[in-house]
Amino acid sequence: MEKSKKLKIVFLSSEIAPLAKTGGLADVAGALPKYLSRIDSVEIIAMMPFYREVKKKNLSVRKVLENVNLDWPGKEKVFSVFEYRNDGFRVYLIEKDSYYDRDYLYGTPTGDYPDNGERFAFFCQAALKTMKQLNFQPDLIHAHDWQTALTFAYLKHVLKDDKFFQKTGSLFTIHNLAYQGLFPREILQQVGLPDYLFNLEDLEFYGKVNFLKAGLLYSQAINTVSPTYSLEIQTPELGFGLDGVLRKRHDRLFGILNGIDYQEWNPETDPALPAHYSKQNLAGKSVCRMELLQTFNFPKNSPLPIIGMVSRLAGQKGFDLLAESLEEIFKRDVYLIILGTGEQKIQDLLLEAQRKHSNRLGLKIAFDDRLARLIYAGSDFFLIPSRYEPCGLTQMYSLRYGTVPIVRSTGGLKDSVEEFKPEELKGNGFLFKEYETPALLTAIDRALSFYQQEPFWSKILLNALISDFSWEKSASKYFELYLKILNF
Ligand code: ADP
Ligand code: GLC
Repeated sequence: MEKSKKLKIVFLSSEIAPLAKTGGLADVAGALPKYLSRIDSVEIIAMMPFYREVKKKNLSVRKVLENVNLDWPGKEKVFSVFEYRNDGFRVYLIEKDSYYDRDYLYGTPTGDYPDNGERFAFFCQAALKTMKQLNFQPDLIHAHDWQTALTFAYLKHVLKDDKFFQKTGSLFTIHNLAYQGLFPREILQQVGLPDYLFNLEDLEFYGKVNFLKAGLLYSQAINTVSPTYSLEIQTPELGFGLDGVLRKRHDRLFGILNGIDYQEWNPETDPALPAHYSKQNLAGKSVCRMELLQTFNFPKNSPLPIIGMVSRLAGQKGFDLLAESLEEIFKRDVYLIILGTGEQKIQDLLLEAQRKHSNRLGLKIAFDDRLARLIYAGSDFFLIPSRYEPCGLTQMYSLRYGTVPIVRSTGGLKDSVEEFKPEELKGNGFLFKEYETPALLTAIDRALSFYQQEPFWSKILLNALISDFSWEKSASKYFELYLKILNF
């Protein structure tokens, strides 16, 4: 690369905050490009489907391409592109209403949309076409998760002679290996990929086509969102059937811990909070605490510690362990406040528990960013009992808001939370290892033993508040990885 030339990056994600969000991927895709764009030699744009959720926000968008035609085997071939100016970078929204103008991004609470394969394959093809139409010739395409993985299948097997992409580098980021995008063999022909890819060395996976595999096999490098998870996915326990593929590529597999956006998540300025606070003056945190207790109809001056949770209701997040442990947890004098949405069976399980423990368990089944922020700010502890966790952002938000995490020692939780050691006054939270009730309870008991016990409690809070997960650090690691890939 010449000195004066900017590195052109295209960032492909199926969700980008604040436009559309179901989980942490959106936070990462909203923040990482913003921090990368602050590096002088980077020019970065992002692309995402134009969902109903985005349309409903009535943002200021500009149509930049109309009636673009795709070489697509199905009936639907035409799409349009809108531009949205996000903080620091442009997002190109692929408009195709028959695919994206729906109530949800991926499916209803009872299951995925049956045509997800087509919906996201179309997005990948449309994104590549958009780069050409905009004449934005990328030095590197950075794609995320199964929804955007086929981009690299098209580049390698359909557009291999296309001059425009001849020098394009590729990075694929795994945010969650459990979601792979599995579809019947016929999908290949339906989305314009050759049937010969249906073999074990390519996209075949136990009789199905695996979209994620395209990202793992055809990208120049792969990364996951924490160093520990990058090792865990190479083992049968957490490899979800793909550990063999990942082990084969271990020399091209990296782990970069996510950051959080310290501007967007700031207890000194957060407009969602009834009062603000900082590490120098925590008075506002007690106001948030009172408001949180009141929101859940608990006595607002209660001194009992509050354990908060904000989570997708999915198997990964440890709700079966939590449910098993509830009787014991409520033998301790604590409130548990949970905000979540997701799988019906976990919702039912929690609603049932709430009926039983209504004076101690506060539950809201919803996706509610404002309430999430009040929970981060108003709780004393934050519980994450995940079975596995690629990175996890909620422990970082809690730390940022002075709320002490109690987490299972796995993936990114292990890389961001350090056990508090009273002898050294070091550490910002509490961890447990075995996925079992006794281990969870001992961690909760250790945490509670320090609650309001000085000088320990003040020190733990301070350690939480000064933990640094700002994106600047992680963005520069991604930048270094981009440069490394371009030199492969
Ligand atoms: P994951 O991506 O696996 O869901 P993360 O910890 O990386 O887990 O990110 C979760 C993100 O989604 C955080 O920003 C969290 O605040 C948000 N979130 C999860 N559930 C809810 C909810 N019910 N309401 C509001 N925000 C939520
Ligand atoms: C995934 C993971 C989560 C991670 C997020 C952002 O949804 O489940 O652990 O923090 O992606 O990378």
